[in-house]
Amino acid sequence: MNTCDSTLLPQGLQRRNFDVFLICILVALVGLSHWLTPVSHHRLHAIHVLLRKMFVLPIILAAVWFELRGAVLACMLVTLVYVPHILLQWAGNAGENINQIGELGTLWLVAVLAGALVRREKRALIEVAKTHEGSLLALVAALDAREHATELHSLRVRAFAVRVGTQLSMGPRQLRALAQAAILHDIGKIGIPDHILLKPGALEEEDWVVMRRHPEIGRRILSTVPFLAPVAEIVYCHHEKYDGTGYPRELKGHRIPFAARVYSVTDVFDALTSDRPYRQSVSVEEARQVIRDGSGTHFDPHVVEAFLAIPSQEWSRIRLSVARPGSSEGSTDDMLPVSSLG
Ligand SMILES: [Fe+2]
Repeated sequence: MNTCDSTLLPQGLQRRNFDVFLICILVALVGLSHWLTPVSHHRLHAIHVLLRKMFVLPIILAAVWFELRGAVLACMLVTLVYVPHILLQWAGNAGENINQIGELGTLWLVAVLAGALVRREKRALIEVAKTHEGSLLALVAALDAREHATELHSLRVRAFAVRVGTQLSMGPRQLRALAQAAILHDIGKIGIPDHILLKPGALEEEDWVVMRRHPEIGRRILSTVPFLAPVAEIVYCHHEKYDGTGYPRELKGHRIPFAARVYSVTDVFDALTSDRPYRQSVSVEEARQVIRDGSGTHFDPHVVEAFLAIPSQEWSRIRLSVARPGSSEGSTDDMLPVSSLG
């Protein structure tokens, strides 16, 4: 597992292969049971006809999973299984023969319509996901206009967090919420006054009191958007620590949302490997050691284990691939856009 893509790809391929296998099995089962059900008795004939209609099932599944191309291929498979049966039962009864051919025509109509409709719906959903993503990036850009470098930090943390989340076999929904939380984690800093947010050098204790309000402000901003409700909770917990010494609620262990525990490791990793006005960045190996040392105190040991299982060179590759949206540097494909997460 060398890259984000190569980690996702085998799982995706396995799933696709299983789906293809299931469609083929369904076509074979329907065909076989239809062939083997005799037509001699009135009731058996009714079952025989009913089974024939079950061919629609693999076709619809193929449309849902593989859109128009899948539906057409599944219908071709059904035709291959069904046509020999029609020819073998060609009894000279014109009405029955027309009925059989008409059945096949109906299956083709279902395949084309279902495939085309699913394709149209999926494209519409992708458009909506892209619009959502654009809105999120605009929010981050608004913060970046005040506190420069926030945007790139957020984009890198998103790419890192998705990589660790994939390593932990998080589902598409969880990964999407994690990715959105990673880019929006510091959105609450919009509510922090400039003299604190942009203060050069270390903050005073009273400044920290104000600064520590940003997770709560972030939650308030995001919870006004219905589709970001799960993200708001992760953002609220993004400064909690595994041993309960974080803020704002000093949550401990598994009381911290899992995505927030994943985020926490990648946020610290990016902060350590990035230059700050007050210190130089450290190497990936040094940052990995800091994360290792924080296992069980700052970080969830399970997440640290997954993080350390990813080779150092992969972190460097992801870091280099992340660029500001619209920039010619880096590759947006490698940034694992939210819309690609299912
Ligand atoms: Fe923060």
